[in-house]
Amino acid sequence: MKTRLLSVTSEADMQEAAKIIADGGLVAFPTETVYGLGADALNARAVGSVYDAKGRPSDNPMIVHVCRADDLKRIYDLDKLPQQNQKQIRALTENFWPGPLTIIGPRAACVPDRTTGGLETVAVRMPDSQVALDLIRQSGCPIAAPSANISGRPSPTRAKDVVADMDGRIEAIFMGGDCQVGIESTVLDMTGDTPTILRPGILTADDISDALGVPVAYDKALSQKPDGDDFKPKAPGMKYKHYAPKADMMILEGAYTDVKREIERLRREKEREGLKVGSILFEESAFREAAHDFFARLRDLDQAGVDLIIAGALSGEDQVGFAVMNRMVKSAGYNIIKV
Ligand code: TXA
Ligand code: MG
Repeated sequence: MKTRLLSVTSEADMQEAAKIIADGGLVAFPTETVYGLGADALNARAVGSVYDAKGRPSDNPMIVHVCRADDLKRIYDLDKLPQQNQKQIRALTENFWPGPLTIIGPRAACVPDRTTGGLETVAVRMPDSQVALDLIRQSGCPIAAPSANISGRPSPTRAKDVVADMDGRIEAIFMGGDCQVGIESTVLDMTGDTPTILRPGILTADDISDALGVPVAYDKALSQKPDGDDFKPKAPGMKYKHYAPKADMMILEGAYTDVKREIERLRREKEREGLKVGSILFEESAFREAAHDFFARLRDLDQAGVDLIIAGALSGEDQVGFAVMNRMVKSAGYNIIKV
């Protein structure tokens, strides 16, 4: 398939992209978090081709992207929730949409099994990106969009990353700028008694708790290694191999200066063995910068052909640091060494 590269400033390209989506095709587009790979969320066949293009396991549900908070009412069956939860969802959309928050609620009958991975719940978000919002509005349907990478690879935060993975596999790619946030949205389950974060992001439990005036929990699977019997993440996507660079990867955990010294020592040792070594070490407490750069750094190091990536751990005490570490440990296949 020939993939068209579209300009985000061309009205004709926007119309073309909207038509592709409305006709059941696939278009990649920028959001504030990462690039998404979009299809008509209510068209099971279109959503099926997203799984094919990504090579994604088909039980992994998609996030449905809307351009108005009101559209929630069409995608959720809100009557299935207690009044209290409905009120909280309204407060969330007022406080955080458009923005990097995905909310899980009971699905409405119009949402196909293909989109929810057969679950009785559905994930919805309104992205903070004009291109994304225009595309949803002009195609006239909510857009299901996972990250626009081949399944298992680092999420794409730059147009060139999307081209590297998706050229020839989808109808079109919007060539926008770099994503501001750099890691995917916070996924929040609003179907239970306590709002629960299933995937951490730049928007933290404290941010959400401040807005709602109630405690917000993190799914306990987020602090578990995926090999134990009691590892049962509530977001199906959290159980898959993820974000893996082509190179081997290890994480060093310890005091900043010790980690820095150990990275240099290991680099010299491994280079003597003939390996090409790359490193990722963010300044202490530069959590947002780390979120912004992490996936791009993985991709650049792969591009440079390194054999081994040595990364410095961020403090998981900070909730944004915790969100980046959630991705980093998966990229490294949980290969963490204390120094
Ligand atoms: O920032 C983002 O969220 C990006 C951009 C494109 O919007 N999208 C994204 O989609 O990261 P994806 O498909 O890569 O991740 C969706 C996550 C997966 O972990 C999936 O299992 C979870 O959300 N999820 C979706 N629907 C769910 C549901 N009904 N219940 C539990 N988890 C759900
Ligand atoms: Mg993804």
